[in-house]
Amino acid sequence: MCGIFAYLGPKSNSAQIVLEGLKKLEYRGYDSWGIACRRDSGEIVIEKHTGKISDVSSLKKELTEEPAHIAIGHSRWATHGGVTDMNAHPHASEEKEIVIAHNGILENYESLKKDLIEKGHKFVSETDTEVFAHLIQENIGEGFEQAFKIALSKGAGRYALIAISKNEEKILAARRGSPLIVGTGSDEYFIASDIPAFLKYTKKVMYLDDDQMVSLAKDGITFTDLKTDKKIEKRTIIIDWDEKSAEKGEFKHFMLKEIMEQKMTLTRAINQDEEKILEVAQAIKTAYGTYIVGCGTAGKVGMVGTYLFSHIAQKHINFMFGSEFSSFLPFMKDKSLMIAISQSGETADTLEAIEEAKKKGVKIVSIVNVETSTMARISDIVIPIKAGPEKAVASTKATTSQLAILTLLAYACAGKLDEGKRLLVATASQINDMLNPRYENYIREIAEKIQNVESMYIIGKDLNYPIAMESAIKLQEVSYIHAEGFAGGELKHGPIALISKGTPCIAIVANDETKAGIISNATEIKARGGYIIGVSPENNSVFDFWIKVPDAGMASPIVSIIPIQILAYQLAVLRQNNPDMPRNLAKSVTVK
Ligand code: M6R
Repeated sequence: MCGIFAYLGPKSNSAQIVLEGLKKLEYRGYDSWGIACRRDSGEIVIEKHTGKISDVSSLKKELTEEPAHIAIGHSRWATHGGVTDMNAHPHASEEKEIVIAHNGILENYESLKKDLIEKGHKFVSETDTEVFAHLIQENIGEGFEQAFKIALSKGAGRYALIAISKNEEKILAARRGSPLIVGTGSDEYFIASDIPAFLKYTKKVMYLDDDQMVSLAKDGITFTDLKTDKKIEKRTIIIDWDEKSAEKGEFKHFMLKEIMEQKMTLTRAINQDEEKILEVAQAIKTAYGTYIVGCGTAGKVGMVGTYLFSHIAQKHINFMFGSEFSSFLPFMKDKSLMIAISQSGETADTLEAIEEAKKKGVKIVSIVNVETSTMARISDIVIPIKAGPEKAVASTKATTSQLAILTLLAYACAGKLDEGKRLLVATASQINDMLNPRYENYIREIAEKIQNVESMYIIGKDLNYPIAMESAIKLQEVSYIHAEGFAGGELKHGPIALISKGTPCIAIVANDETKAGIISNATEIKARGGYIIGVSPENNSVFDFWIKVPDAGMASPIVSIIPIQILAYQLAVLRQNNPDMPRNLAKSVTVK
């Protein structure tokens, strides 16, 4: 949710470096982009536009014609103020003395703005962010660094902020809730919302934690704890990321690449540290209530978890979305356990749930993909899913890996970890057979048939009920077709009124005791004219179109979601949508 990137160092083409780096952060927001560089003369020049930064090949000559060793940039996911050039970041104070970029929300911006206007400041955008620039400017008499701290002390909300000044050769940055990572090269510094922005230059990183600020200057780097105003030392961590794994390679889109990668990623997820899985299983068994928390797709995975634990370990586990968690906080005790699920490890709603639970002494286990994320760093135990960078906004490979971890945990809880592993290893090999061009082309046939529909529905039961809802998310976010997922049995209580002649309905039918029920729900839909697409190990006379999946028992959610990911991708391409960057969305939702 907004990408920030800045450079300070010996290279005089800083704006160009920021342009290239920002392109790697585009997944965080692609409504507009902007870059500001500080020429060596002190003058700050800004270029900003609506649209995607990936379409930009060169900058205005004002940003490149004179040497500039400092630059900041931003790719925006709009919150306050429409998608316009004026609202794009960076934002500046009068005379461009202070220029800033910001990720997050300045919650009390209205009262601060009113106050600043009364003091004579002139605002040009509708954003909350611009307030920070004027707030720093207002106190600049105290010096850049002090004015920056004053602005932070007045601002409420969760955000990451970077600022440069016409009068000083430095970059100041601070975080409260949104990620910021410093990369250090030889005599040069980078600061970004995510590592890929500077991976080309360095693998040495330092993490900024909440309520900390950093000052980057030619003569060194200084971290300060904003609560105590004391200098702090930071550990340098060497990242073992491979730049290539974050590239599209031979694939047209990241989404397709990531779907295909499930051949390997599931196996990597299963290859967990057994001791850790057993430790978490033991914690679940002894906890005073276990609460799974996640948002969006990670939330749907968490819901599948409640069924897995019920069936495999006969254990009741609670689930709630991060944004709904506070209503259940009173039940949390110091012996409760929270299992947070997140691909990015930066989702604000999930992080907030963790922070609230931690205050009550709850032990936190996180199942994350980004092992260096905030979530991983504030959890007591981290189970990494090891899916590798997931760049497409629609989560695919992270989803199946998260499902695999919950399956392992449920089996471990039942004292049957080996059985769980065997099941998942067999499933991984079946997925290997599934993910081939023939299967993809077969699914394309149905995508072509339904590409112009207005609505579609997905039904599932038991483990596959949350998968029906996850399928709806996949279809909505990349195809923009109205899609809804239901528990098959719920249809007759209302939603069946939406079915008319030809309405496509996907029925996820596992080969178990739920089969008869869901087939009968599909038959009810067919009787009202619905067109039934069956996702199932076996064909059935009610299906108008059959997508075969392996018979995977408790791993049925893993195999069932894959063809629907492919279908969503195919529909997006046929409808000429960019599946990697769907409208109105961003990969990592770091605002509430
Ligand atoms: O990074 P997280 O897993 O915490 O993200 C949670 C959701 O924002 C995410 O799953 C979202 O729903 C996906 N775009 C769905 O494909």
